[in-house]
Amino acid sequence: MQAVKVGVLGLGTVGGGTVNVLRRNIIDITRRAGRDIEITRAAVRSLDRSTICSTEGIVLTTDAMEVVNDPEIQIVVELIGGTELAHDLVLKAIENGKHVVTANKALIALHGNELFAKAQENGVTIAFEAAVAGGIPIIKAMREGLAANSIEWLAGIINGTGNFILTEMRDKGRDFVDVLAEAQALGYAEADPEFDVEGIDAAHKLTIMASIAFGIPLQFDKAFTEGISKISQEDVKYAGELGYRIKHLGITKKTEQGVELRVHPTLIPHRRLIANVDGVMNAVLVQGDAVGPTLYYGAGAGSDATASAVVADIIDIVRALTTDPENRVPHLAFQPDTLADTPILPMSEVVTSYYLRIHTQDKPGVLADITRILGEQGISIEAILQKQPEHHNGVVPVIILTQEIVEKNMDAAIKQIEALSSVNESVMRVRMESLG
Ligand code: HSE
Repeated sequence: MQAVKVGVLGLGTVGGGTVNVLRRNIIDITRRAGRDIEITRAAVRSLDRSTICSTEGIVLTTDAMEVVNDPEIQIVVELIGGTELAHDLVLKAIENGKHVVTANKALIALHGNELFAKAQENGVTIAFEAAVAGGIPIIKAMREGLAANSIEWLAGIINGTGNFILTEMRDKGRDFVDVLAEAQALGYAEADPEFDVEGIDAAHKLTIMASIAFGIPLQFDKAFTEGISKISQEDVKYAGELGYRIKHLGITKKTEQGVELRVHPTLIPHRRLIANVDGVMNAVLVQGDAVGPTLYYGAGAGSDATASAVVADIIDIVRALTTDPENRVPHLAFQPDTLADTPILPMSEVVTSYYLRIHTQDKPGVLADITRILGEQGISIEAILQKQPEHHNGVVPVIILTQEIVEKNMDAAIKQIEALSSVNESVMRVRMESLG
């Protein structure tokens, strides 16, 4: 039988890794797939640029459409990133009857609904394991391994750069800006590091996981995102003193009112396994009604680690080449005509508990004013901690942990606290999750 011919768009970190991993493990991969697999063509930005893989036996071009239009190619692997050219290339590949593998989380989160419908029409598959948490097979786990469950919620550390920054701040007392520069130099960060630190990259990945968990269309525009740039050394330290760690989590939860879809810094008890996922590593905790909590941990970025997921997708497609398109695993885990229109909840309707850090004047009655405001909004205090005045300037940090309350009540309370003449600056709010 002829080898399955694969065309790769982009031979950068992930594309080069894909060639390397496929070639290094070709004997076992062929035994697993049941067919020979050959990368015959690749599109590169410049023919003069060196790549991290050998390009022997691969016809190179700078015109990605040439690969997509090559009648011999059965699987197109899109690894160029971005959402414009990548969208056009993937769409054309589908129209040409080719299967697609992609690591492009933004493409799937923003255009997945359209692309999956097109793929369905054309009897082809778009595989995107590498788009979420790099080498961790979280999509396969949720779509197949947990298919018996009603998934209740999931929470993930799904951006390695952000996790590296928070870990270095906690362990080494380093400053945010300094650690970000190192993450960029190490090649972890997105081309625009705002995608990492402001939670956009994590929201792309969370959007995809929420759809697979709950059988809803992709709705990136409804995801709430808050970054980590406002987290200070002070908050990391106080959280530690109270038995918590601050992690940048993507959380999605099914409630009676709708689906929560949110990325924000989160205090979690330090004894939870996921609280101990450090550096650039990723982890996703999934709560199924039958299985209970399951945790998936591994490298969320990097050349070979991401290639591991890309090559696994190629193998899956090769195995499914001869199957009836109607009987393949659905893109979003649920049959497309059964996707639900469950609403995504606005952040103001989300219920959670909070860490508040308030800088106040060291004067009698200030604490009473703050607790009165919280009480009026129905917010119950779980713990309260007043530190020594800072630098003899009469400013006292007050740390309050609250019980669960709907976000709109907390918004109202914070507004009133900030209006007190004895409160010096904005109230720092970090949401808390027990993940129990
Ligand atoms: N910038 C991303 C991260 C790369 O830091 O996790 C993997 O998506």
